[in-house]
Amino acid sequence: MSQAVDEIKIGGLGASRRRVEDNRFIRGKGNYTDDIVLPGMLHMEILRSPLAHARIKSIDASKAWDIPGVHLVLTGEMMATRNLAWMPTLSYDTQAVLATDKVRFQGQEVACVIADDPYIAKDACEAIVVDYEPLPVIVNPTQAVAEGAPVIRDDKENQPDNVIYDWEVGDRDGTDRAFAGADLVSKLELHYPRSHPSPIECCGSIADFNRATSKLTVYMTTQAPHIIRAAVAMVAELPEHMIRIVSPDIGGGFGNKVPIYPGYVCSILASILLERPVKWIEDKSGNLISTGFARDVYLKGEMALRKDGKILAVRMHTDADHGAFFSDAQPSKFKIGLMHSAFAAYDIPVAHLTARGTYSNKAPGGVAYRCSFRVTEAMFFQERMVQAAADDLGIDQAQIRAMNFVRDDQFPHRTPFGFLTDSGQYGKCLDVALKAIDYENFRREQAEARSRGRLLGLGISTMTEPLGAGNSREYDILGIKMFDSADLKVHMTGKAILRTGAKTQGQGHETTWAQIVAHELGIPAEDVVVEEGDTDTAPFGMGTYASRSTPVAGAAVAMVSRKIRAKARKLAAHLLEVSEEDIEWELGRFYVRSAPDRGVTIQECAIAAYSNMPDGMEPGLENTAYYDPPNLTWPFAVYIATVEVDPQTGVWDVLKLVAVDDCGVRINPMIVEGQIMGGLTEAYAMSNMQFITFDAEGNCVGSNYMDYLLPTAWETPGFELHSEVVTPCPHHPIGAKGIGECAAVGGPAAFVNAVMDALSGTGVRNIDMPMLPDRVWEAITYRRDVSGAPPVRSDD
Ligand code: CDP
Repeated sequence: MSQAVDEIKIGGLGASRRRVEDNRFIRGKGNYTDDIVLPGMLHMEILRSPLAHARIKSIDASKAWDIPGVHLVLTGEMMATRNLAWMPTLSYDTQAVLATDKVRFQGQEVACVIADDPYIAKDACEAIVVDYEPLPVIVNPTQAVAEGAPVIRDDKENQPDNVIYDWEVGDRDGTDRAFAGADLVSKLELHYPRSHPSPIECCGSIADFNRATSKLTVYMTTQAPHIIRAAVAMVAELPEHMIRIVSPDIGGGFGNKVPIYPGYVCSILASILLERPVKWIEDKSGNLISTGFARDVYLKGEMALRKDGKILAVRMHTDADHGAFFSDAQPSKFKIGLMHSAFAAYDIPVAHLTARGTYSNKAPGGVAYRCSFRVTEAMFFQERMVQAAADDLGIDQAQIRAMNFVRDDQFPHRTPFGFLTDSGQYGKCLDVALKAIDYENFRREQAEARSRGRLLGLGISTMTEPLGAGNSREYDILGIKMFDSADLKVHMTGKAILRTGAKTQGQGHETTWAQIVAHELGIPAEDVVVEEGDTDTAPFGMGTYASRSTPVAGAAVAMVSRKIRAKARKLAAHLLEVSEEDIEWELGRFYVRSAPDRGVTIQECAIAAYSNMPDGMEPGLENTAYYDPPNLTWPFAVYIATVEVDPQTGVWDVLKLVAVDDCGVRINPMIVEGQIMGGLTEAYAMSNMQFITFDAEGNCVGSNYMDYLLPTAWETPGFELHSEVVTPCPHHPIGAKGIGECAAVGGPAAFVNAVMDALSGTGVRNIDMPMLPDRVWEAITYRRDVSGAPPVRSDD
């Protein structure tokens, strides 16, 4: 007699199932782009510009051509003859593939050499002589909009200055009125510095054009293979069905592997011209100076407050430095990503945001580094502003948050910038976090320590992140609507293969997607193999970034499983010789309502789909689901850090960090914890040590891991995680919300607020990240704010 299966035993929802992908990763058996070797493969290296802004007077590649083993030297001029010198970006801008007229940032691609091996290609790059005429350099928005500033994008028609967009959202007049009636106006200005996602694996591609079949196969490090296929079809003018993009294992993406890079395009063209596979693997400094920067925004704002702490209105202005090309992916409607998700967790009647994006002589920036399109910057400003307001009013940090949060009974709630948040228990999360950090006790210890000259501080940060773009009504990239997909084939033995339009880069989709199938069908997770990243086999999807996988592709997995279950129900009715209406479902099994002992397993239904289907039924047990979410999912979190600052050196240490994350239903609690710990580590790194900047000449300072620090286990503090608050997402089929980025989004403000709290009473209002010891020491010693001040040109 068949029985229902135990969900946890089969690795369903809520099981901390070990990651199946780790079997190959920890054995060194992963299959990354650089592991792929094709017969007759050639190697490509890129010559990059040493200058940030210069006119190219000439390029002499004759010596490179003469080097034995060199097959091809590509320059911008040659690309131009094939209309490939420029390519479209994912934000409706254009980007130089190889420079023709000018170089616009240090590290820009100027030429490529394709040779028998990478060493010959590198030597040949060095043999190329480029004659540059240096031009004045712009490294921040202030310089970009200054009177008489050189126009960086003089290649574009109708681009008389360096402004990319001037965008606003919210209610300007209503906000003005609210400010006029405020008891107090609190102000804050800060810089969220440039940072780099710095995945361990750099970017790369292997293009393989087969003239005999006219098929182009590209193995590459992309988080969004289907978007790349569409872009290649447009740029290279190849038919889409003749393009196959394969993302093999990816060694971390974090947003760095969303944009389209010149290296990809050049390897494709080289393979078409040479009719041989061409591999390009970026080196670490190439990655750190030229691809996928994040943040670099100057934020200022003010908050209108009532005496008792009620927030009446917010005004915000953002200046975003995008570098030389506006190339990060944005939903078309929103120029500065989802920056306007700021203050979504607070019940604020009215707000107004203005945002200006400008070009500079820096590598393209603004990618969503572990965040949903600029949400990190938004949440950072929000939580720094709330702390500044509490300080100005002399109100407790926790209290001002609690009194302004959207209450549980206010959902669905329309934010002042127009989002609809649908669920959460914000007050409860804060209570759990305060208890875990032993708030009152810490305040006593802090006061006592202060009396003995020790500086302790406590920083609270909360975040609610709009995750899971789209719905397709509002979200698209280059006009392609944002939805996602899953395709499930159940074999006759009840084993299955699942493919989705997402692409894991370390998040564990191979483990968790199978858990959703197990939850919906009762097929043990170990019987479901998950495959992603091959456009020839995966259903169309928008890829993985902005923590959209669980909210969108994960929902598609549940929905396709339900379609399979619906067909299996018909098969069960046939096998049990009753009508479908008499059939009931429990996990893994259908049974007859009036005779529960009479049942068939899902595996028996699978065999029947191939061997004993009812008359008129199409054989097989396969289906595809495309899922267009009705709304974003809105996870919420509270992070509280306590720190001790050494007034003699400015060094600060984390005493404790507690994290309370509510991401709805957790598919795999262990993986969720891993995501939170990874995010917190990155948050700690951003606030403490990661400094990538540019000098006045546009030289990138921080182009290697001696200068740009990644925290190891040694530096990283311990984290205490809490999972007791669970508010299921009301519209997600299994109640899950995204989690991948939350801690990286919300974490930085907890550390900065803690250091600022330690310095309370000194008059210091802000220290920009990274809070390096010298910055903290300067703030303490001179009792002044320390900004990441924009560099000025030496001739200024
Ligand atoms: O889009 P991305 O995969 O980066 O982020 P995510 O959708 O938040 O998922 C990150 C990982 O956490 C995936 O393996 C998810 O399946 C898992 N997760 C989970 O187990 N439960 C949730 N409620 C959310 C994510």
